[in-house]
Amino acid sequence: MQIAGNTLIATGGASGLAEGTVRRFVKHGANAVILDLNEERAERIVAELGPQVRFCKANIESEADVQRAVDMAVDAFGAVHFLVNCAGTTGVGARRTVNRQGPHPLEDFQITVNSYLVGTFNCIRLAAWAMGNNKPNEHGERGVIINTSSVSAFEGQIGQAAYAAAKAGVSGMTLVIARDLAVMGIRCNTVIPGFFMTPRAELAPQALVDQLVGHMVFPRRPAVADEFAHMAQAIAENPIINGENVRLDSGMRMGPK
Ligand SMILES: NC(=O)c1ccc[n+]([C@@H]2O[C@H](COP(=O)([O-])OP(=O)(O)OC[C@H]3O[C@@H](n4cnc5c(N)ncnc54)[C@H](O)[C@@H]3O)[C@@H](O)[C@H]2O)c1
Repeated sequence: MQIAGNTLIATGGASGLAEGTVRRFVKHGANAVILDLNEERAERIVAELGPQVRFCKANIESEADVQRAVDMAVDAFGAVHFLVNCAGTTGVGARRTVNRQGPHPLEDFQITVNSYLVGTFNCIRLAAWAMGNNKPNEHGERGVIINTSSVSAFEGQIGQAAYAAAKAGVSGMTLVIARDLAVMGIRCNTVIPGFFMTPRAELAPQALVDQLVGHMVFPRRPAVADEFAHMAQAIAENPIINGENVRLDSGMRMGPK
């Protein structure tokens, strides 16, 4: 599906991978709605990129919030064509299933799964409903959904049970959603990032950065947001990519720690 003239909703679009995607899609002529909780960062991006970009302060876990973002895209730009799902909480740290303090708090597990997995599905279902109103293009497409998983879904490290479970859920539902939405002409794919230098990653100690880079094959460096955005663009534009999980990780395979 062509990017120019079409409209993207980017969850987490005020930062990191989704911000990079907003910037790349807008540069190629798309409109964009940033769905995020971070008003300050989002407003700065809107001021920089101009009227092609709007901000909706919204929590991906809330039905009413996400519907507001979808409505904003339709009111401002006439439709929703692309959904890029990147948002998710950084609030809960890694913890072993059991440690000296006791069992993993169940609530922390639920917070993580609710954010990355339930929040992603919430956005998919509401955006897909709106995409159903689009006139199909020459390939019969009405929309494209791009989710974000993690290499932790497949080689999660010690302490990452909740995050790995949430991301494995995102990867696992990708083909099912592609099958569900095929009748509407909507594709669904997931990108599996390795290690990208984003505001979230900038908080990581150098020792952790070195350790993660050490798990890479080539090139051995943190990736940058525009390399994620480039993949999102390829998925958006190529009508044959569907139901796929695409690793974007310099050949990285993480060890237990
Ligand atoms: N950066 C990496 O190396 C890396 C690696 C693997 C997977 N990922 C995944 O990629 C995605 C994006 O990561 P990033 O590094 O760009 O993160 P980031 O922290 O730079 O950006 C995340 C954005 O999401 C927003 N957000 C958080 N919770 C939200 C909610 N409930 N509702 C709406 N917005 C919310 C934040 O305000 C922030 O702007 C995440 O799902 C992350 O798990 C990142």
